[in-house]
Amino acid sequence: MHRLIGSLTVLAIVLVTFGIQTSNQGRFRAPETLFATLKAASLPPSDGQPVRFEGHQVWRVAIASLTDLARINTLQDQVPTLDFWTDPRIGRHGVDIRVSSTKGAQEALAAYLSKFSLSYDVFIPDVQHAIEKQLLPPVVAAPHLNSLGDHQSLLSADADPTKTYFTKYHPISEINEYLDYLVKEYPHLAEKFSLGKTYEGRDQWGIKLRAPRNEPSSIAKEKKEEWIGPAVVQYILTSLITSYGKDPALAHILDSFDFTIIPVLNVDGYEYTHTTNRMWRKNRQPNAGNLCVGTDPNRNWASNWGGDGTTSKNPCSDSYIGTSPFSAPEPKNLANYVTSRNGAVISFIDFHAYSQLWMYPYGAFCDRTAPIHVESAAQRAASALKSVHGKTFAVGSICNIIYQASGSSVDFAYDTANVTFSYGVELRDQGLYGFLLPPKQIVPSGEETLAGVVELVGVIEKWLKEDGAMDL
Ligand SMILES: *[C@@H]1O[C@H](CO)[C@@H](O)[C@H](O)[C@H]1NC(C)=O
Repeated sequence: MHRLIGSLTVLAIVLVTFGIQTSNQGRFRAPETLFATLKAASLPPSDGQPVRFEGHQVWRVAIASLTDLARINTLQDQVPTLDFWTDPRIGRHGVDIRVSSTKGAQEALAAYLSKFSLSYDVFIPDVQHAIEKQLLPPVVAAPHLNSLGDHQSLLSADADPTKTYFTKYHPISEINEYLDYLVKEYPHLAEKFSLGKTYEGRDQWGIKLRAPRNEPSSIAKEKKEEWIGPAVVQYILTSLITSYGKDPALAHILDSFDFTIIPVLNVDGYEYTHTTNRMWRKNRQPNAGNLCVGTDPNRNWASNWGGDGTTSKNPCSDSYIGTSPFSAPEPKNLANYVTSRNGAVISFIDFHAYSQLWMYPYGAFCDRTAPIHVESAAQRAASALKSVHGKTFAVGSICNIIYQASGSSVDFAYDTANVTFSYGVELRDQGLYGFLLPPKQIVPSGEETLAGVVELVGVIEKWLKEDGAMDL
């Protein structure tokens, strides 16, 4: 049946993190003493003071075989004090791990790796230094982030904030102000709405974009300690709004589809990265009977929740799946929004950092993938993206490209909410800066990602016009 394209929505969200679980297979027991040393290391203080990362390092460990992978998985499962910045996968990029400066921790990790002949490079020699050097303003307790001075500089009387907004990363208060500004300036195109409340009671704001026309259409997105995801989604939002009536290609996609853009899904976690712990990933929901806070918002979806590929039922893990599907309000609110559209969402894109990947379903299954048109559209998007600044994004199913992952947003959108073109996109970079991507890369990253989205939407439009019969 032919559907009116104009009634479809492209949903762009930034969940918190794109958490991909590791497999339960291939476990082996490792020397207890090494683990004991590593486990004792670096539980960050939880007294609300900003967490500092002096002497913490990020190591990139090469993974050559399934055996290597199993050894890394064991570390991830058994040593929650190690912070896995990427999901382990076989290949040169292997995995990036932050190891604290607590006495003996780096030595213990080095001993473990060398015992199994796993090679590594130190790619960030001092995480605190990288935070302060690459990300301005640095994360300090920072009442000034919300100060009147900053408020005025963001939205001062005659300046156009869209011209300066993308030179830095912003805390939630500024993001909300910016969204208010866009809605006020472009009331004929943009409407602000709340998906619902976070655990701590903050609104999860989104923007619905709809060009003046009779028929309505959408893109979505989410993430955590990486700040580039929200920035890029806002860049796309800004470009769509400000170019309407000026740039024919952008105006065309806005004429053809509605867009729903949710810059930050894990609002509490994002705020916490600005105020207290730059490396925080989860939401801020307490766990009964445990001092560790938070659920990973991208392992808590009601799609094969807790299935194969799930690692962490440990509330202290960064990839803790929660007590039940949608036990975390943040993903639940987004799921309700998507399902309430009753199949009117044609595309769902969950943006994260980092690794440069454009992925499609499934995460939960390795022997099943989305059909060829979903893959082809991703390939087209990745090549359009590359044509802008030369960045290569690998394309594949989540399970095949990274690892088996159950309970993720992309599987839910595809399988449960019937969103045909569902993607998880991991933005820049490939690990030079990792989560600490310098602000001067916001605009280039936004430009290339926008090109990918425009291409994707064009492909979807053609596919719909051909009633899905088109050979992409
Ligand atoms: C998805 O499709 C199935 C099967 O057609 C249907 O039962 C279900 O209601 C649909 N879900 C949504 C959210 O549209």
